[in-house]
Amino acid sequence: MKLNRREAITLGLTGVGGLLLPFDSSHSALAETISDCSNCLRGEIAPASFQPEELSHQIPRFQSPFKRPPLLKPVRSYESGQRPLDCYEITMKKAQVEIIPGLKTEIWSYNGILPGPVIRQKGGFRDEDRGRESLVRFINQLGTSIEDGTEIPINTTVHLHGMASLPQYDGYAEDLICPGQFKDYFYPNDRAATIWYHDHTIDRTSRNVYMGLAGMYIVEDEEERQFNLPQGEYDVPLILQDLRLASDGSLIFNDRGQRSLYGDISLVNGVPWPCMKVARRKYRFRVLNASTSRTYDLVLSQKENRLTAGERMYVIGSDCGLLDAPVELTSPLQTLVIAPAERYEFVLDFSEYDLETDLYLRNPGLINSSNIDSDARVQTIMRFHIDRDEPDRSSLPDKLREIKRLDPNQAVATRKFRFERSSTQWLINNKPWNKNRVDANPQPGAIEIWELSNNGGWMHPVHIHFVDWQILDRNGRKPRAYERGWKDVFRVDHFETVRVIAEFGRRNGDYLQGRFMMHCHNLVHEDHSMMTQFEVGQNGPEPCSAPPLPISSITPL
Ligand code: C2O
Ligand code: CU
Repeated sequence: MKLNRREAITLGLTGVGGLLLPFDSSHSALAETISDCSNCLRGEIAPASFQPEELSHQIPRFQSPFKRPPLLKPVRSYESGQRPLDCYEITMKKAQVEIIPGLKTEIWSYNGILPGPVIRQKGGFRDEDRGRESLVRFINQLGTSIEDGTEIPINTTVHLHGMASLPQYDGYAEDLICPGQFKDYFYPNDRAATIWYHDHTIDRTSRNVYMGLAGMYIVEDEEERQFNLPQGEYDVPLILQDLRLASDGSLIFNDRGQRSLYGDISLVNGVPWPCMKVARRKYRFRVLNASTSRTYDLVLSQKENRLTAGERMYVIGSDCGLLDAPVELTSPLQTLVIAPAERYEFVLDFSEYDLETDLYLRNPGLINSSNIDSDARVQTIMRFHIDRDEPDRSSLPDKLREIKRLDPNQAVATRKFRFERSSTQWLINNKPWNKNRVDANPQPGAIEIWELSNNGGWMHPVHIHFVDWQILDRNGRKPRAYERGWKDVFRVDHFETVRVIAEFGRRNGDYLQGRFMMHCHNLVHEDHSMMTQFEVGQNGPEPCSAPPLPISSITPL
């Protein structure tokens, strides 16, 4: 598709509208967007003259068919024992994919696809849950890449974000799988939630995830089934990413001097601006923001380029599982803000519309926050086209899973963490990552309040590994209704203090101990070097105590 010159100019002007604004650090997302491109990396440094907008404008909007990432089947299952075990295998390798039809793009992938395959697993510890355990074998066949003119190995480590894994299976940033090695990760599947696996390599996470190393992992249980939510083909992953492609199809990694990375191509499940044909009935969507830095502000509209009133979205789940009741959001003003690494689940009821209606999932960036830039190209994400009637026996109950509120009066400690920028780095309490330093030591069983504060400039989506949290308040005010379930990522906006509470509790009768990471999930900030660690209890297993092995020693699962 070719745009006529007028359209191109219009879009181009909209796209760089930020240039007209003063360079002001309080509008840092804009500042980052318009800053120079001295750090462009695509294998090698990109020429200063490339036009990043060029390809984005040539991609057809809302025509490419919507795709679901394929489900990964276990290579072997063991049924004996309290909890049966399913074994999966994922090879990390370079692959050529057609993000844009007819043009090859090299990605670094899980099993050759973008995003990686979905793992769906039964979890829970009650008998009736019939919960299972997973072993996922990750094999690194990525080889090397050229960085600043030097050939370096593409090391990896895999974190299953949202799983309470033991420290040695949690994807510790320094527990590296080098090319030619593999590692078997064990996952307990504690509770039902939409979670995801992604790379977590020290200093390289932003590059590795951007190049394609991310995939969804769904844990289900029996309790959830009783709610009779839409299932099967009506239970749909929506993995959001933004990328930038050069005109030869190669991915451009430009973190703008280690500040943030924004793409001008918006993808859902690896497809730019797709169209999903849907039936007049309810669907459950599991949305994951797998973008490096971008926050989305989601709302439905009947129009591609503006908001219509009265379109409804029913939020039913957050990072760590179902909410206690659906939260209804009505356009144009009630939006669903989703920062990097957050997950939300919502039901859309297309029976509220006539056949042949189009609905757009939009990202108009209404909220006043950094990490949402003004790029018009990513202000509409996908289209739903209602093209048929189908029976619907699913329901949207008034009440979902009971959420036991943690009581702040029972907290035995309050810890403060400041997320800030020095002249050269991103820091937590003024310190960069140091694998030999531990910044908090909660005891097993303790309830604690952590105060996450931001003294301005950028929004930080803070992720704390291992435990599920509840947000108490933002600057003393209640969080949005859909933020009141269990979470593991918290938006900490300019001049905000977000208080979160957790119990470092038991799992299936046992207390888990050990060292786990906490970091900003703007992956560019994480890499440079807004990350620290805490230790639960003492003498837990060491994060590097289950080292990877050479591929030559692989025996079948
Ligand atoms: Cu999604 Cu520590 O990561
Ligand atoms: Cu940050």
